[in-house]
Amino acid sequence: IQYDFGMIGLGVMGSNLLLNMAGHQFAVIGFDKDVQKGQALEAASSDVSEVIKGVSTLEEMVRSLKKPRKMMMLVPAGKAVDSVIESLLPLIEQGDVVIDGGNSHYTDTLRRVTYLKPKGIHFMGMGISGGEHGARTGPSMMPGGNMEAYNQVKPILEAVAAKVDGEPCTAYMGKDAAGHYVKMVHNGIEYAMMQLISEVYDLMKRGLGLNNDELHDIFGRWNGGELQSYLIDITEDIFVQKDDQKEDNNVRLIDLILDKAGSKGTGKWTSQDAMDLPVAVPTIDTAVSFRTISGYKDERVEAAKLYKNEIKKVSLDKDTFINQLEDALYFGFIICYAQGLAMLYQASKQLGMDIPLHDVVKIWRGGCIIRSKLLNDFYKAFKENDNELPNILLDKGIADIIKSKEDSIRTVIKEAIDTNIALGGLTSALAYFDAYTTENMPTNLIQAQRDYFGAHTYQRIDMPGVFHTGWISKEEKSV
Ligand code: 6PG
Repeated sequence: IQYDFGMIGLGVMGSNLLLNMAGHQFAVIGFDKDVQKGQALEAASSDVSEVIKGVSTLEEMVRSLKKPRKMMMLVPAGKAVDSVIESLLPLIEQGDVVIDGGNSHYTDTLRRVTYLKPKGIHFMGMGISGGEHGARTGPSMMPGGNMEAYNQVKPILEAVAAKVDGEPCTAYMGKDAAGHYVKMVHNGIEYAMMQLISEVYDLMKRGLGLNNDELHDIFGRWNGGELQSYLIDITEDIFVQKDDQKEDNNVRLIDLILDKAGSKGTGKWTSQDAMDLPVAVPTIDTAVSFRTISGYKDERVEAAKLYKNEIKKVSLDKDTFINQLEDALYFGFIICYAQGLAMLYQASKQLGMDIPLHDVVKIWRGGCIIRSKLLNDFYKAFKENDNELPNILLDKGIADIIKSKEDSIRTVIKEAIDTNIALGGLTSALAYFDAYTTENMPTNLIQAQRDYFGAHTYQRIDMPGVFHTGWISKEEKSV
């Protein structure tokens, strides 16, 4: 038998994706050096009628694939990807398609595409979102690279992807490393949304004194409304999860989890690359920074003792405030997406990736971590603007939504300042909005200062050209 698709790396993601493919009548083969992983894959496939095989040599996997071969690697980003490529090279041939489905940095993907192109190998970077459950039941997949190669794998990807209104949550994301670029930005948005949710949680927990059952109910209600999204949905569940380490208690697990956030780097990459473009993504930057601050636990404990800044209760009516929080979060979510999508717009142009933004938001509607009802509005906006939308805040429909939530986020932030609760994400979202929507920023002063101390020149509002002034200092004036 010749197999339709091969997987290199049978971790949870790789195995689950293969099981998903097999369930859609594709014959699949997976390779992992660890023999047990291949066996476990075959054992897990009893419920699928199609052929599924696990092997422990790369040669056997490659030999068993239909030509042109289609395969994916799901191995840790970094050196492992390069080493798989080197092991594959003597075994594969012109026209074969090799997909990297991990969270690789897009510059690595670009380098690999360039390296493999002269050898006739189609190397594709593809972002996959949805975690292990998503991989098994329908992830969102963001493939980029050579169009011809994409067309070879399209039927498989479309079959296994999550579906929204019958449409698959996968599409061609653009040239070269576009797939990994889009996934990187997806993760930046993911970081920012999670940061905002954590701030709203803090305001309700410490600011309003709500307990986990109340939080569970509120997030449940929110998920039934405009905020409907995967992250709000899982947050609802989290508040009622009991601790499974100790038997005797009613303590919720959430209250036992140490407040140090981990990260694997994709959020940071988004901020770093945004700075290079440059595009402003302050809410993503803040999310990365707040995870960093969270890591300095010992210092925080010491500083808390030193400053003794007690958390004060919210003084506004509880129910009204909760409704305002819902609106503030909705406003914040829009800003997170706005920043990420503006980044994709610019990066696509600068790196010549031709990223179809309407398809990006379309395939984010299902399967991925940042899926939300809101993305339907963005999809409409990009369609109406023919993809030429540098920032979704410029869309009339989105502007109407934002305007209806603006008062709430201002009230929430004003109130939060007196509680001593840190709202880095929400305040950055509002500040971004205020800066982006003002005709006149105070940056004329920055220009004057730059020219004063460094002759960096400035432009004027009343005449064209570049100017430098011999600024007169106090000392000079006094002589
Ligand atoms: C997804 C996620 C996933 C990511 C994790 C962990 O879309 O399924 O983005 O790819 O690896 O969310 O990221 P951090 O460890 O950096 O939080």
